[in-house]
Amino acid sequence: MEMLVVKGERPLSGRVAISGAKNAALPIMAATLLADGPVTLRNIPQLVDVATLARVLVSLGMNIHGDTSGALHFETVDDSQQTADYELVRRMRASICVLGPLLAKRKRACVSLPGGCNIGHRPIDLHLKGLRALGADISIENGYVHAAADRLVGADIYLGGAFGSTVTGTCNVMSAAVLAEGTTHIEAAACEPEVIDLGNFLNSLGANIVGLGTPFLTIEGVESLSGGNYSVISDRIEAATLMIAAGITGSEIQLENAPLSHMTAVLEVLDQVGLKISSTANVTTVDGRGDRSAVDFVARPYPGIPTDVQAQMMSMMSVTPGKSVIADAVFPDRFMHASELTRMGAQIRREGSTAVVQGVPRLSGANVMASDLRASAALVLAALAAEGKTVIRRIYHLDRGYERLENKLNALGAKIQRVEDQPVEIPSVPSLSKASTPRSNRAA
Ligand code: EPU
Repeated sequence: MEMLVVKGERPLSGRVAISGAKNAALPIMAATLLADGPVTLRNIPQLVDVATLARVLVSLGMNIHGDTSGALHFETVDDSQQTADYELVRRMRASICVLGPLLAKRKRACVSLPGGCNIGHRPIDLHLKGLRALGADISIENGYVHAAADRLVGADIYLGGAFGSTVTGTCNVMSAAVLAEGTTHIEAAACEPEVIDLGNFLNSLGANIVGLGTPFLTIEGVESLSGGNYSVISDRIEAATLMIAAGITGSEIQLENAPLSHMTAVLEVLDQVGLKISSTANVTTVDGRGDRSAVDFVARPYPGIPTDVQAQMMSMMSVTPGKSVIADAVFPDRFMHASELTRMGAQIRREGSTAVVQGVPRLSGANVMASDLRASAALVLAALAAEGKTVIRRIYHLDRGYERLENKLNALGAKIQRVEDQPVEIPSVPSLSKASTPRSNRAA
């Protein structure tokens, strides 16, 4: 397995470009199942999660190929397949995004239930509730969701849950409703830019969705969708991660294609911390050279601070003077990174669903373990600021959602090496039965 070795305390400078948004690319790729003709997608990031979903789609009878411009072409060549297998779905929860499109287009869908996850309990009850409201007959057998409907019918659906709206749930129900008979109203729809991007993509193929970006969607069902061409939005989470890299290293960097209009809450909190962010045309300058101050925030659904930057922010607040209080209202248990940051010298106290971070003057390099995608990024950021060498294991999490983050950071002056993990010889312990106890100590 590979690991990252990071030499800390190097200032960053220079310019890098932000890639396409993972969480827009995945549901849009899944929605190509709905199209009657070929679809070309641009700005799809090269990620393990994208490759995993491509394998799911190929297993469902799609032909996918890339070209020299970086575009991906999708075309259905066999529409008889209806099953997304456990072996593929277990690798990535977002595979559940094929459920709505498969059901709407092929009338039957059988998708393995995604398993557990390190960021907390992640049910799909709201996805199923929405699809049932459209008339699908749904059962769960042997770890698979079986859904069937000869024709979905528009309905009024409330998609709110205990933790707010659902991003992929909205994507699934919206994707199914575009081919339903009649009108669907979704209330408490997720407003994330990635959901808007999926809606814009579907509309570009002939769907009729109104209200994107608000909690109220109206979808007039259409008979069919055509093929088309679409370019996905830039990744606001990658942009935020790199902005925090500038902050935590006290550096000034430039970002191309940062989607600032999708980042208002993040920009606000970074401004409170003390980062100076300005933009001209397509280039954003992030100046993290000034003093930083502690900040309190709660991660919430869009337009709030995304849960997907909570971990990275925690790294920066670990080395920012004062006490920061951080909570996550979307995934209240998403704090696995806190204990690894503590191993690097951070002072973080967990109080229920809140983390209290007391800034320390510096972190020190250590051996740490990534627990999920954003936790990996948080550890990379902490390592950039830490004294000495940090070794980060289980970086396959990082590769799922960042297009070679270490290459971009190295282009900015960081020193990060990707190396093979060398298994360490662990001395064997003689079995207890053979362990010899000195005669004099034996019980009589
Ligand atoms: N929820 C339910 N029932 C459902 C669905 C969700 O109770 O049927 C709860 C979840 O347990 C959670 C909250 O609702 O507490 C929000 O979950 P949501 O469904 O919005 O999450 P998701 O769609 O599974 C997407 C992103 C995540 C991101 C969340 C929140 C994709 C592929 N994934 O997940 O991204 O954290 O929205 O914004 O879009 C990541 O990129 O690292 C990542 C985890």
